Amino acid sequence: MKLIIAIIRPFKLDEVREALGEAGVTGLTVTEVKGFGRQKGHTELYRGAEYVVDFLPKLKIEAAVSDDVFDAALEAITRAAGTGKVGDGKVFVVPLDRVIRIRTGEIDADAL
Ligand SMILES: Nc1ncnc2c1ncn2[C@@H]1O[C@H](COP(=O)(O)OP(=O)(O)OP(=O)(O)O)[C@@H](O)[C@H]1O
Ligand SMILES: [Mg+2]
Repeated sequence: MKLIIAIIRPFKLDEVREALGEAGVTGLTVTEVKGFGRQKGHTELYRGAEYVVDFLPKLKIEAAVSDDVFDAALEAITRAAGTGKVGDGKVFVVPLDRVIRIRTGEIDADAL
């Protein structure tokens, strides 16, 4: 199992949710976040110039997935979240040791 953490453009949420559903992802957590990447929140870099970092609003998506869904889920996020322009976001993948479905006590893939 993996925990997929993706930072995406807020207006891409519906597309990403739909694509993940089609890929077989059964649940999703979304958080409003702010961040910056290589351009430090600016659309242009001014060489040698000092400037403050701007934090830009993004959405953080977290999806716990079984190994058989993982490849399709990654493909779905990168395809649905992309525009081809700077600031499209980033995907982080973390190994997931344990999942527990609280109501039933099921664990791991059965709990997803
Ligand atoms: N190294 C990082 N660690 C944690 N969060 C990051 C990192 N890089 C980017 N992010 C998050 O992803 C968001 C979008 O980053 P962004 O897509 O601008 O990355 P980038 O590396 O600058 O790529 P690009 O050149 O395509 O813009 C940031 O606002 C931040 O929330
Ligand atoms: Mg960037």
